Amino acid sequence: MTKIKSIFVCQNCGFQTPKWMGRCPGCGEWSTLIEEVEEKVPAEFSFPSSEPVLYADVTEATKKRIETDIKELNQILGGGVVLGSLVLIGGEPGIGKSTLMLQVSRDFATSGEKVLYVSGEESLEQIKLRGKRLGVEGGNLFLLAETNLERIITQAEKLAPEIFILDSVQTAYSSKLSSSPGTISQVREVTNQVFRFAKKNKVCSFLVGHITKEGSLAGPKSLEHIVDVVLYFEGERDHSHRVLRALKNRFGPVSELAIFEMGAHGLKAISNPSAFFLRERPVDAAGSVVVCTIKGSRPLLAEIQALVSSTLFTGNPRRMTIGLDHFRTAMLLAVVEKKLGYGFGGEDIHLNVAGGLTIDEPAADLGVVTAVISCIKNKAVPSGMTVMGEIGLSGEIRSVSQPLARIKEAASLGYNSIVLPKGNIDALKKEKTQGIDFYGAKNIKEALGLIF
Ligand code: TYD
Ligand code: MG
Repeated sequence: MTKIKSIFVCQNCGFQTPKWMGRCPGCGEWSTLIEEVEEKVPAEFSFPSSEPVLYADVTEATKKRIETDIKELNQILGGGVVLGSLVLIGGEPGIGKSTLMLQVSRDFATSGEKVLYVSGEESLEQIKLRGKRLGVEGGNLFLLAETNLERIITQAEKLAPEIFILDSVQTAYSSKLSSSPGTISQVREVTNQVFRFAKKNKVCSFLVGHITKEGSLAGPKSLEHIVDVVLYFEGERDHSHRVLRALKNRFGPVSELAIFEMGAHGLKAISNPSAFFLRERPVDAAGSVVVCTIKGSRPLLAEIQALVSSTLFTGNPRRMTIGLDHFRTAMLLAVVEKKLGYGFGGEDIHLNVAGGLTIDEPAADLGVVTAVISCIKNKAVPSGMTVMGEIGLSGEIRSVSQPLARIKEAASLGYNSIVLPKGNIDALKKEKTQGIDFYGAKNIKEALGLIF
């Protein structure tokens, strides 16, 4: 008789150990090790041609793609969904993964493709109820409420759809394994089987995976290397906008992103994100400035706000940032103190990026400094002006990447004067940028002189 061996598997990173531990040595997370039965999954993984082929003999496969009706989603995918590819859509519960998938199903089904939407989370009635909100008419859309993976694959092979969606990877289970659904081994097995199904039948497949901030569910993180494309859905619960970004894409660019707004009738892509994030900006208010950042590969205008007020905590004033890097901001404040002679020892400083956006590139440095100084001086940045530039420790302003893309975005929203690094000016001289005044600055002193 074979003895059943049990092992402890980290539900966050997949680390395995024969003994229970409080903290996973693999990823450092606490209480993520869960006892599972050790299983030997047969490695029946092979592609049709398994003989070596001369590089020169390999023909370039022209990847066939199917486009969705959502232009922004196509862009993220690199021009549509590739036939036979497996796309993982991860995100926190309630962010809108099922909604997006049902909308995608609707679009495919109405344009004639056969779609199979498998849900292990909701009943068919619940899906239909949501479908009503989204205006799903039917067409070639098939639904299946099932959690057993083998039965799902059998049904899928029988139906032979062009699009296959499994919502979610955590609720499906394979009967080959005895561990419960949602554990790392199950989630991996489910993904592997769907991957094989997708490749064998040339079906565009989507997997929905939940992730929580605490990483308490078997993380789709451990699936990223299996699938072809990883998309993450992010957003704040108290904001209506959602950001969808590609983290990995075997058939297209990464770090592309699209912004959606969740409304009464599902998700709507925001075609002009800059205007969306600036729509409520107060005009001529001190402490606010518009910066042009790059998100993914596209420029995005965002508003940085600063509030400087005298502190109640003498000797230990507050430094709060929302949407900006805390350490970088502290560095910028130190540069301003040293180079411009300000003293922030008695001041609380709050910084915020409006609309719940996060900015994680140094090109916004000049924006942070400008917002703070504008608040201190109680003087608004001239309307129609935007700033960009990275600030170094000696107060110098360094060039930013893709200046032209940023400027074009600013111009398209009616901004007509730009303070930018001197190093970027030469690069712009050759380009046609009419109707915009450029002010090049070498250091922060110069830049602030130009702005105020
Ligand atoms: P859902 O797609 O169920 O999230 P997930 O699958 O990622 O868990 O979306 C959940 C939220 O979206 C829910 O709180 C309700 C909201 N919602 C809308 O605001 N408008 C809509 O049209 C739909 C369908 C959902
Ligand atoms: Mg869902």
